[in-house]
Amino acid sequence: MTASAEDIKKQALADFSKYVNPQKARVLKNAGLDIIEGKREGACVWDITGKKYIDCITSAGSFNVGRRNPEIVAVLKKALDEYDLGVFLLCSKQKADLAKKLAGITPGDLQYVMFGVGGGEANDFAIKLARGFTMKTEIISTLKAYHGHTGFSLAAIGRDAYKKPFYPMVPGFKLVPFNDLKAAEETMTGDTAAIILEPVQGEGGIHPATDAYLQGLRKLCDEREILMIFDEIQTGFGRTGKMFACEHSGVVPDIMTVAKSLGGNLYPISATIYREELNDFLVAHPFIHLSTFGGSDLGCIVGMAVIDYLVKNKVPEHAAAMGERFQKGFDVLLKKYPDLLLEVRRKGLMMGLQYTNESIGPRMSYQLAQNGVMAIYTGNEPSVMRLMPVLVIQPDEVDFVIDALEKSMAAIMKQGGIEKY
Ligand SMILES: Cc1ncc(COP(=O)(O)O)c(C=O)c1O
Repeated sequence: MTASAEDIKKQALADFSKYVNPQKARVLKNAGLDIIEGKREGACVWDITGKKYIDCITSAGSFNVGRRNPEIVAVLKKALDEYDLGVFLLCSKQKADLAKKLAGITPGDLQYVMFGVGGGEANDFAIKLARGFTMKTEIISTLKAYHGHTGFSLAAIGRDAYKKPFYPMVPGFKLVPFNDLKAAEETMTGDTAAIILEPVQGEGGIHPATDAYLQGLRKLCDEREILMIFDEIQTGFGRTGKMFACEHSGVVPDIMTVAKSLGGNLYPISATIYREELNDFLVAHPFIHLSTFGGSDLGCIVGMAVIDYLVKNKVPEHAAAMGERFQKGFDVLLKKYPDLLLEVRRKGLMMGLQYTNESIGPRMSYQLAQNGVMAIYTGNEPSVMRLMPVLVIQPDEVDFVIDALEKSMAAIMKQGGIEKY
């Protein structure tokens, strides 16, 4: 007798609890997200039991081109017939091609590229480069920021809970409130190498930086010879309605990091892109930062296909239009459910629902899952639900998500709203 999908799921969840992470499994179950992914396509994912969801988690913006985008899948399959990861110590045509493409689509004079596998690594290198180039030590980062769990990036995170068990951190990091130019200015010293920030804080609860803040920081950094690092790992590749979020303010950083969607979530790859002048450091130290799998030939081929797809299909523009469509629905919900929904912060399809109470996040996740939408609250701010669907989401799918939000909020109000908690 073959096992049913339900049995396979039960076993997978039990094994996950026993061999991977029981507490994670419990938290997800309580939020109605004890889902074992089966089929994935476009904006959707199917639990192995067949239940369909619109994916608004997307590994925090890693599936901009859609889940298993058939064009990118075809490119990867073809590449596997010819290539492997390549020998990382050699020069590679694929690395050169993707670096050239990245230099072409990133703003201003960003030109040189160091490849990696994941986002944390890309930020690690950005910070290393800033210290190595300026020969200064201090790094300023922002409260509630998220930059990854590797060494330098972890030190830059704006949430103590991720760091405390591992103290001491890499020294020389100072945290300032986000969107507070004065605080940044007062923290800068003659030994400040760089400031690192997300143009829209993701894990921190979807907080877009104001144009004035970024422009003011740029001016301060220029005056004081401090480098600006933009972490565009969540915001990049069309997520905010422009290819890169910094384009909204017209501010060009000295170093930009990208990861997640660059690999179409089919092949891991990340990149640290920086101005030509900074390459002096690499000229002096060409082998200072190595990665066996970073910028592999396969990863670079996928990265090129992703960028071509985004440009050819005007995906950033589509994201901006779909964001507007979402906004119309949010405006109705804000009026109808003021006890639950305080405000919506949004840039393109990077969307955060600020609930009135921390307990609402998990309850909404649960209700939304019942109504066919996968969504979860942000890591550094549980009162905020992040909605980050694929950028190729279609109008009827947007309407489906809005309808699911409405049904979920109605269900919570029916249970007695927030008073019960
Ligand atoms: C803004 C930002 N930076 C860095 C990272 C770390 O990327 P990775 O998990 O690939 O190391 C993330 C991951 O969520 C992120 O959202």
